[in-house]
Amino acid sequence: MAKTVHFWYLSPDYKALKLKKTMSRKILVTSALPYANGSIHLGHLVEYIQTDIWVRFQKMRGHECHYICADDAHGTPIMLRAQSEGITPEQLIESTYQEHQADFADFAVDFDHFSTTHSPENKAMANRVYLANRDTGHITTRTISQAYDPEKEMFLPDRFIKGECPKCGSDDQYGDNCEACGATYDTTELKNPVSAVSGATPITKDSEHYFFKLSDFEPMLREWTTTSGKLQPEVSHKLQEWFEAGLKDWDISRDSPYFGFEIPDAPGKFFYVWMDAPIGYLASFKQYCNANNIDFDQYLSAGSETEMFHFIGKDIINFHALFWPAMLQGAGFRLPTAIFAHGFLTVDGKKMSKSRGTFIKARSYLNHLDPEYLRYYYAAKLGAGIDDIDLNLEDFQARINSDLVGKVVNIASRCAGFIGKHFEGKLTDNIAEPELFAEFINQADSIAEKFESREYGHAMREIMALADKANQYIDDKKPWALIKEADQAQAVHDICSMGINLFRILIGYLKPVLPRTAEQAEAFLNIAPLQWADLNTPLLNHSINKFKPLMTRIETAKIEAIQAESKEIMDIETDTKSPIASNSDIEPIADEISFDDFAKIDLRIAKIVNAEHVEGADKLLQLTLDIGNDQKQVFAGIKSAYAPDDLVNKLTVMVANLAPRKMRFGLSEGMVLAAGPGGKDLFILNPDAGAEPGMRVK
Ligand code: 2FM
Ligand code: ZN
Repeated sequence: MAKTVHFWYLSPDYKALKLKKTMSRKILVTSALPYANGSIHLGHLVEYIQTDIWVRFQKMRGHECHYICADDAHGTPIMLRAQSEGITPEQLIESTYQEHQADFADFAVDFDHFSTTHSPENKAMANRVYLANRDTGHITTRTISQAYDPEKEMFLPDRFIKGECPKCGSDDQYGDNCEACGATYDTTELKNPVSAVSGATPITKDSEHYFFKLSDFEPMLREWTTTSGKLQPEVSHKLQEWFEAGLKDWDISRDSPYFGFEIPDAPGKFFYVWMDAPIGYLASFKQYCNANNIDFDQYLSAGSETEMFHFIGKDIINFHALFWPAMLQGAGFRLPTAIFAHGFLTVDGKKMSKSRGTFIKARSYLNHLDPEYLRYYYAAKLGAGIDDIDLNLEDFQARINSDLVGKVVNIASRCAGFIGKHFEGKLTDNIAEPELFAEFINQADSIAEKFESREYGHAMREIMALADKANQYIDDKKPWALIKEADQAQAVHDICSMGINLFRILIGYLKPVLPRTAEQAEAFLNIAPLQWADLNTPLLNHSINKFKPLMTRIETAKIEAIQAESKEIMDIETDTKSPIASNSDIEPIADEISFDDFAKIDLRIAKIVNAEHVEGADKLLQLTLDIGNDQKQVFAGIKSAYAPDDLVNKLTVMVANLAPRKMRFGLSEGMVLAAGPGGKDLFILNPDAGAEPGMRVK
């Protein structure tokens, strides 16, 4: 039976249990700026979730912490993408900005400010950084030769030149490596090169470029990159290769036409996108400071005692750990406190794949599952290093169902009913098992230390070990059996109150990872938002609210639906280049399904009564399909293979009962069936003569 001694009385050591009060810190945190021409996908989210957890943890500890980000809006790909969609770059970056903000908000990635690098503040900041470096002699110019598209009248970045691989002769290879044989080479070695923009043969043309003299900062960079705590050891080690090879001047200019900021006193020359992108951290923060009365200079001036951390992917380390500190110092700003790099995401052990349906956009996930599941799974997988992390979809489902639903939420649902039904929703005035309570509280410093050092996986394991203990406690005490005994009501009250108090601590520990669940739990517990320092104060004599399930199990069908949606989107958006499929390219047969599964798919003969181009879409045709008693509108990714006029009046087969999907261009109410690898090789299905619109295909 539970001891019913007052917690305060039993715990003279209580003070020792109190969490250490640390001094309040002032921290500026950034995540890398996503490009403004693509959707956020689950790979991006590793970083935003990692950073958001860290920031939420710092705030919960009572520190002043500002989480800043922006869209990375400049550069050739954005300029060309806008052109191909028939819109201005400003329109493209604006619509992407809206999409990104919605995706982040829905994943509970809670930036204090999210801006764009295409802002007046960023232009001013880029000029400031550039001019300070120029005036102190860190900028130089020289003429270089580059590939130029004579038709489009623009210089071509490597990725916009394609040709035959100089090693194996495969055609249609981009830039500096061959996808067929894996060879790497210089773009100038490509045979029969053509501009991917216009198809013209590139010529070589001279132009004057502006360079940042990185080597001027070599002594500082050598010291900074090897000072403990600035970079992860493996990152620091890797960077030494740059010093061994000799620091080269960094080309920071691009010629017109370019979507970006013109360099002061250099007409027709623009800052390279990677020059003004990190400066976007500062400009976005500046906007936020102006709006919130925060002292920008206190954070950014040289010698500042505040902290500044950049979370980034391991592919962009050189920009952040070499060019960026050098530019900051050249402009008289402080240096970053540390840079935290992370690895890439794999799904089911492999690179995200469009054909497997594992290239998953944030929105496709959100259409089917609670974002908190993914936040927890990433947290459980993340450490402080730069190893890739794997989203194994089966393990994901099992882990959420077992840890969050089966362990954490279960504690509350096992106890709340008794409190509501038998004790008018009020907790007892004592802590039944002070030792167990103390054990939970004693773990706080260790868990905090894991969050602080980004060892989230370890933190999650410690929290789940505690959740196991709480469940074990309830299993041992069996309140469901005791409640049937006449004199055991007080014991049940004590046990269930104890369970609720343990649940409260666990939710507090998980709050940086599961902010929405924590919010619902706070409403259920009838308490103010949990802070780290409050966790050791139990709820005694306290009324709680009616319990509503905080989370439900993940059903397999939801994961399948995400994959199916991802595959469908990618089929529409991607123009796969592969020519005729060789045997080894034949997609493996999908997992077996039952006849009932098949019978759910309603395939109908459809007559294409109208087909037209879709403004702003590269790959889509808009089809109107007659299925006998109804007409459906479908967006099909077959523009590369069919002219609209060739389709009108043809019969084909459509999936008629697919849930309608909202696309950027309108509602798509089904799918037409087509085969082939993509590009010109796409073949829609036609029934034999005699089939009529509306007939079911079985
Ligand atoms: O690699 C990228 O996606 C870049 N858009 C990141 C920029 S981070 C910072 F430097 F702005
Ligand atoms: Zn090759």
